[in-house]
Amino acid sequence: MRQKLVVGNWKMHGSRADVAALLGEISASLPAQAAETAVCPAYVHLAQALEVCAGSAVAVGAQDCSHMSSGAFTGEVSAPMLQDLGCRWVILGHSERRQYHAESDNLVAAKLGAAVAAGIRPIVCVGETREQREGGEAETVVAGQLQGALDGQKDLTGLVIAYEPVWAIGTGLTASPEQAQAMHAFIRGCLAGVAGVDAEATRILYGGSVKPDNAAQLFGQKDIDGALVGGASLDARDFLAIVGAGRA
Ligand code: PGA
Repeated sequence: MRQKLVVGNWKMHGSRADVAALLGEISASLPAQAAETAVCPAYVHLAQALEVCAGSAVAVGAQDCSHMSSGAFTGEVSAPMLQDLGCRWVILGHSERRQYHAESDNLVAAKLGAAVAAGIRPIVCVGETREQREGGEAETVVAGQLQGALDGQKDLTGLVIAYEPVWAIGTGLTASPEQAQAMHAFIRGCLAGVAGVDAEATRILYGGSVKPDNAAQLFGQKDIDGALVGGASLDARDFLAIVGAGRA
């Protein structure tokens, strides 16, 4: 049985006051037997988030990391730095990184290797655009992203995949539970062919306009093991409701 996992992706939002208010409320009000929970604020808020969440069941992660472990890489933050700070998770290959920072599958693969080597658990994002779905290429695109990130990795301990159809991110359009389930089952089938991955034990999250009113239905699908939540993770009540929907 895979425990549900709900991860808040705060993207480039928030102030220190927001971190205190939002995480204060979330960490204090986490429902009993809720989904495993993590939040991923901006780098500059990680230390504060870790402090606010200390002693609670809310883990903290980053939204990205460097593919290198140290060196002359101005502006970058390495996986060992995140580990040293106390971060447990890192989101990798988010479609906004692929789109605005031209992240290739090769770069995502290098970041994944760096994260696992540092003991940070990776959440690797995959997903097709609207044009790709309409062109009947969704599965080919997702399979290619998985292969590009996972093939040849030495160690995939703690791997989590997030299926985030690009057309559903921040748009209010959610994949239907059936559409999402079909892709999650396809992804699990792909994972079964990757050396070093236990496909049945690997959690596959859905992301793309997850809200309190659609979370339970999504979580009711056989291969949906939780959510990567953007917009709704910036509202403590909404986020807590989604986490609550992931009760075992
Ligand atoms: P959204 O974002 O929930 O605002 O659609 C999800 C994500 O990008 O991770």
